[in-house]
Amino acid sequence: MANTDDKQRIIELQQHLNECSRSYYVDAKSLISDKEFDTLLKELEDLEEKHPDLRTPDSPTLRVGGEPIDGFKTITHKQRMLSIDNTYDEDDLAKWFQRVYKGLDLNDTDKVPLVLEPKIDGVAVSLRYEQGLLIQALSRGDGRKGDDITNNVKTITAIPLKLTKPKNSKITIPDILEVRGEIYMPNNVFERINKQREKAGDELLANPRNATAGALKTKDPKQVAKGLAFFAHGYGQIDPPTAIASQSDLLNTVKAFGLPTNPEIKHGKSIKDALNFIHNFDETRNTLDYATDGAVIKVDDFEQQQTLGVTSKFPKWCVAYKYAAEQAETKLLKVEWQVGKTGRITPRATMEPVFLAGTTVQHATLHNFGEISRKDIHIGDTVIIEKAGEIIPQVVSVVTEKRSNSKPIPEPKVCPVCKTETVREYDTKRANELASWERKVEKEKAKAIKEDRKPKSIAKPGPLSDKDISGNYCENRECPAQLLESLIWFVGRNQMDIDGLGEQTVIQLYNLGYLKSFEDIYKLLDQKEKLASIIKNEKDLPKEEKTFDGIALRKLNLMIKGIEKSKTQGLARVLAGLGIQHIGARAADTLAQHYGNIDALISAKKDEISEIEDIGPITAESITHFLHNEAGQHIIQELKDAGLTLSVPKRQVPSESDSPFANKTVVITGTFESFGRKELAEQITNLGAKVSSSVSKKTDIVLAGESAGSKLDKANKLNVTVWDEATILKNLKSAQSNTPPASEQGSLF
Ligand code: IVH
Repeated sequence: MANTDDKQRIIELQQHLNECSRSYYVDAKSLISDKEFDTLLKELEDLEEKHPDLRTPDSPTLRVGGEPIDGFKTITHKQRMLSIDNTYDEDDLAKWFQRVYKGLDLNDTDKVPLVLEPKIDGVAVSLRYEQGLLIQALSRGDGRKGDDITNNVKTITAIPLKLTKPKNSKITIPDILEVRGEIYMPNNVFERINKQREKAGDELLANPRNATAGALKTKDPKQVAKGLAFFAHGYGQIDPPTAIASQSDLLNTVKAFGLPTNPEIKHGKSIKDALNFIHNFDETRNTLDYATDGAVIKVDDFEQQQTLGVTSKFPKWCVAYKYAAEQAETKLLKVEWQVGKTGRITPRATMEPVFLAGTTVQHATLHNFGEISRKDIHIGDTVIIEKAGEIIPQVVSVVTEKRSNSKPIPEPKVCPVCKTETVREYDTKRANELASWERKVEKEKAKAIKEDRKPKSIAKPGPLSDKDISGNYCENRECPAQLLESLIWFVGRNQMDIDGLGEQTVIQLYNLGYLKSFEDIYKLLDQKEKLASIIKNEKDLPKEEKTFDGIALRKLNLMIKGIEKSKTQGLARVLAGLGIQHIGARAADTLAQHYGNIDALISAKKDEISEIEDIGPITAESITHFLHNEAGQHIIQELKDAGLTLSVPKRQVPSESDSPFANKTVVITGTFESFGRKELAEQITNLGAKVSSSVSKKTDIVLAGESAGSKLDKANKLNVTVWDEATILKNLKSAQSNTPPASEQGSLF
């Protein structure tokens, strides 16, 4: 039983620390310093450890993060999370206003209450509170289903674990309240993390949004970056219905409950007010400590919102005005070539530091040598750079008038790391043009011989030049630079999906010398016995011995299980994991399905592979090149020896009597209520359809959603069968009841 002093202190600390977080995030006021906060939190942690029964569900100590998880559960949103229609210019915005006035049956001069909000460049989340307690946080996902990221979100101090009913207020907290908003990483946090990464020699995070998304997806809640923040901007399910009647009302209410809302939000009544806000905010947004990429204009009144309604994707009562990317002029100082996991060699430019869209930039990407040739970029040139709101800045163009003493950038003829001679790759379209010309010439020659005449000349497309280079590659699979990158790729979520073996651990093990090949990952299993014995005695070990070469045992244990499990992922994922050029998840799945096992694929001839639908000559060349050279064969043999499953169960192609999609060529167009286009394509592929992108006489069925355009017109002209969403659903249902689900058939998707 806890003594009353401890009990009193625990309650006091819980309340005080929650109050401090709320004051900091909601009212932008610091009540205590970070250090004091941490000291008090530690005191509370110790006390709660002594009296676990006093740890309430909203205790700030629960934010430190639970145990690592295997993966994220996908959960259907109770109400869809729609996205916002974008405009980039004022004419578009005026058109949106016209539609709003028309929809509301108003005159242009009438006033419409508006809420004018900054568009935060973060990651959308839906927070579900039941009886005031945060019980679930879902990512937006495809709008219908999102990932359950509750444990990671609970570590974010800006998000209350429990809502508070303001004193003297009549507003009660609804039993169910879903608040939607944006999780973002403040610029200062982003910069701090990147500084640490730079010091550690880790790859830098591209921008705060990617960093946020990455943090929210880590499988170990303890690793979620400290310092993520949140602004509420919408709602999902609310039960029982409340008297909240407008966006302003909603924002005030959730703020009163303890959720942060953006202090920059303004109100207006006309397009003039909206434009004023857009212009003023553009002046000040770079002074804020978070990234914004536009302004969101919302009709305030919920009744008016309802009158306006939604399209299949966007609400009609809301529009985002996106700011054009900012540009700056600077001088290009040097170009370094870096090697990626497929051996692709990419240029990284260093420039004179210049202030652009809120940060000082010094590096830009130049994509590949072809891009450098096309834009005629030299070292020493004055260049225009642009931040496309996201990613690393790009070099847009050269100010040639200012060129003096500049030096051309030489093509990387050898790998900057292992010095192997590089191989050029050309733009696919141009390469295909040439290949198709060669075929035409051959055909014409044969025809001419048959008809006993001289062959007609066919205009030859211009030869491939430096400008057509799409990449230079190092083909040495043992190149140290490629090795680390390809190991990280191999273990990734969409490839072998090895739990407990994330990027950081791969780097650590690589640096310690444990990983020199894919096979070495499986050699780690030999350490199992040793590990098991250490883990068994873990409780008795002194703290510094609770690690294995610096890696926590808890983590290592998870990793061993993950590696073991990954052995049976099957051929498609192994092929996708090898990082062979042009072999992504889809090509890997097609090849695995076609051949069933690695030996059949190895024996296949290049021409035969290129005949497979969706594969084509470039992919066929790439896979045969890999499988028929010594390095590739060595890798495959090693993985075989390690006991990996290098086959895949064939997905049954349903018979025509089981599936109305079987052997049908199908084109998908427009948008649907019940599924995304990609999702629909995957479903019907599993039901035997061949999905094609253009309508022709060979098309059997066109699946047309809302706002289907030219493809639907063409289908009608050619008299092709067209199914609307209801018909599609009916047919999907009947086919699915006759066929096993794809997940039981070794599907990658
Ligand atoms: S409202 C139904 N308000 O932008 C409309 N979204 O490009 C729901 N975003 O998915 C969104 N700031 O994640 C809204 N003030 C704001 C926003 C905002 C950023 C994000 C949101 C949305 C995306 C659409």
